[in-house]
Amino acid sequence: MMDCTDRHFRVMMRHISHRALLYTEMIVAKAIHHSNNLKKILDFSPIEHPIALQLGGDDPLLLAEASQIAEEWGYDEINFNVGCPSPKVKAGNFGACLMADPNLVARCIQAMKKATSLEVTVKHRIGIDDLDSDELLKAFCQSASEAGASRFAIHARKAWLEGLNAKENRTIPPLQYERVALLKEKCPELIIELNGGLNTPNDCIKALKTFDGAMVGRSAYEHPLRWQTIDALIFGEKPKCIKASEVIRELLPYSQIHLDKDGRLWDICRHVLHLVEGVPGAKKWRHNLQVKAQKTSAESSLLEEAAKQLEDEGL
Ligand SMILES: Cc1cc2nc3c(=O)[nH]c(=O)nc-3n(C[C@H](O)[C@H](O)[C@H](O)COP(=O)(O)O)c2cc1C
Repeated sequence: MMDCTDRHFRVMMRHISHRALLYTEMIVAKAIHHSNNLKKILDFSPIEHPIALQLGGDDPLLLAEASQIAEEWGYDEINFNVGCPSPKVKAGNFGACLMADPNLVARCIQAMKKATSLEVTVKHRIGIDDLDSDELLKAFCQSASEAGASRFAIHARKAWLEGLNAKENRTIPPLQYERVALLKEKCPELIIELNGGLNTPNDCIKALKTFDGAMVGRSAYEHPLRWQTIDALIFGEKPKCIKASEVIRELLPYSQIHLDKDGRLWDICRHVLHLVEGVPGAKKWRHNLQVKAQKTSAESSLLEEAAKQLEDEGL
């Protein structure tokens, strides 16, 4: 999720689920093409596997180049963003507005497939503006599938590109799971991952009765520990109970490495804050960590202290 998740968040989530597929935020293919610091844009920690790089763009050549680079960089999958409704993205002719041009989407996918042996998957909406029928959705997915897309992560909302901003487009258009279910019924051969409004592991289990996968955005970001049961519930692993303090302790060596490379503790702590919620003293603990971790001089001992405080409370 752009301006929200990053590799530090994904590393933290890996201490909560070893099995879930993690996606990067959208990276624009053009930015990869022009970058003289690919490490900054593409680097990830080995612990993040399996990890999909999400690409944005509308130029088959640039997307192909970015896919090839992504494979060399060690990503496990390329996910093509055809779902972002932001006006800035629309102005660049990519994201959700590409749903109006299935032929171009197909050419982009073909070019990416040709450039890499990785799976190419697509993230999209159920429709945009007036292009919002079951027939168009089916035709869009079939065309993308024929071009080589192997899975579809479908945000079960349409996007109004004229009139709503990105945030409104994540809340105002109603969720229509039944339309994605109809698509799956009509095209059982398509591998479909449901997205939008899945707020608990149980929501995902319910979705998995109809769909092949479940993708979680905001709830994973805002309530990371809530997702600690998924390895057991969905992937059949032994149930475990992970405490916030344990996740923080797991992050200590990683934080030190980040600080040694001139990173800031806040880069990591801004995600760590979400680990503690709904318990007495949570607000104070978060406030304390936030104030101290934002200082440029903050050291990893601060995280250690924060973990100790939680341990003293049994958290
Ligand atoms: C701040 C923010 C940034 C987002 N950035 C991306 C993005 O880069 N790529 C993407 O596919 N979806 C992005 N999304 C959308 C989410 O992936 C997801 O489709 C949407 O929030 C609905 O799912 P949810 O109800 O589980 O959050 C973003 C959402 C938010 C809130």
